Amino acid sequence: MSTPNVIRIGLCGFGTVGQGVWKHLAGARRALESRLGAGIEVHRIAVRNPRKARAVRLPAGRITTDALAVAADPKIHIVCELMGGTSLAREVTLTALRHGKIVVSANKALICDHGAEIFATARRHGGHFLFEASVAGGIPIIKALREGLVANRFPRIYGILNGTCNYILTQMEEQDAPYASVLDEAKRLGYAEADEALDVEGWDAAHKASILAWLAHGVWVKPRQMVVEGITRITPADFKNAAMLGYGIKLLAVITRDLDSNELSVRVHPTLLPEGSVVANVSGVFNAVSVTGDVVGTTLYIGRGAGQDATASAVISDIADAAALLVHGKGSHLTAAETLPARNGCRLAPPEHIKCRYYVRLTVKDQPGVLARVASVMARHHISIASVIQTPGEDDRAASLVLTTHESHERAMNATLRDVARLASVIGEPVLLRIGDFND
Ligand code: NAP
Ligand code: HSE
Repeated sequence: MSTPNVIRIGLCGFGTVGQGVWKHLAGARRALESRLGAGIEVHRIAVRNPRKARAVRLPAGRITTDALAVAADPKIHIVCELMGGTSLAREVTLTALRHGKIVVSANKALICDHGAEIFATARRHGGHFLFEASVAGGIPIIKALREGLVANRFPRIYGILNGTCNYILTQMEEQDAPYASVLDEAKRLGYAEADEALDVEGWDAAHKASILAWLAHGVWVKPRQMVVEGITRITPADFKNAAMLGYGIKLLAVITRDLDSNELSVRVHPTLLPEGSVVANVSGVFNAVSVTGDVVGTTLYIGRGAGQDATASAVISDIADAAALLVHGKGSHLTAAETLPARNGCRLAPPEHIKCRYYVRLTVKDQPGVLARVASVMARHHISIASVIQTPGEDDRAASLVLTTHESHERAMNATLRDVARLASVIGEPVLLRIGDFND
């Protein structure tokens, strides 16, 4: 393809992210054009319903409802897939790549489900696939991993990867706000996925963890292979208990690799973090990613993890990379993870291999001997108790029992909880949270 004087962009999707890209591209366009030495134009925009009311009005004369036509349009160089979902989004992405175009995507679910196929298609047809906006919103974590930290192997990456959950947890902790009303607010602010279960059940963070694990280790780990737990069972009482123990609660994605045994573990779950740690104090829609490299040591990245502006910032950074590639013939994306030597012998650890300290909250009958019975089940499974707090329950015949353990194996902990739940004096399902003694 000859060097274009004007780079033409097709936007598939003009919702929260698409409108942000339109708005901020207009603001950044002149500076970008002068740095690139070429013009930039949004040539076509695909939406589902052109008559829908929007905060940013649809620019006349470029609207279609046919996203596949945008993907195949010979005049368009860069296709931004900002629709979401994994069906039409996959078709649009593959079509554009088969036409040798550059695709920019914010769609972590798509990358997690179909990343291998997408990157293979890009390679086969000389196209490129850029995805900075897919993980941690405005934080340039993809660039950090594949460019800035290229000298490293990564024994540990962990962090807050879902802005909606962090916003909900913060409001519940600081304002004592009810879960449902905070979730509604997160939706109104444009943080939540169209299917909010992806956020609150932990799947969105799992999609992002999968992408980071692939970038860092060259292995696709699917959410079904991970422990994935969301925030729906956390109550205001858990925040109070955690505070008494000196912890805050965050939904974390944790990716560890034992560089000796080469075992990789990827998981997503609410985690108690020491209240003095930086990550425990990252609040609202902000994300935080702690990356420990074997050469650099630990680096920490914090910024807005969701919402129109932060996400548009990341998409526009990919548009600029894509345009530089078209105009100058090279781009930083060339050091992508697909060039990692296959897996480097890395093996996925079974979830039962997780080893950490645990927080267990039980609702029990307020009767003599209950604590002894619970302790005896734990002893039978070789779980060592570190602390016990008893607080009044919702009625005067019940009590809340909060235990923390010394480091234990997940397998033993799961077996313990099954047996504890069977005790006649235990009411309802036990709540289990993991304690992350990370101090970043
Ligand atoms: P959104 O507000 O729901 O917007 C989706 C857009 O896609 C809408 O403009 C919609 O058209 C269009 N669309 C949907 N189905 C279509 C179809 N069949 N044909 C043509 N257009 C179609 O979603 P969003 O929040 O912008 O998210 C977009 C993507 O970015 C998702 O993959 C999401 O996971 C990702 N992301 C979002 C954020 C965030 O903070 N929101 C952050 C990072 C990544 P209508 O407007 O006509 O309905
Ligand atoms: N729903 C996602 C979140 C959007 O809340 O983090 C950003 O990926």
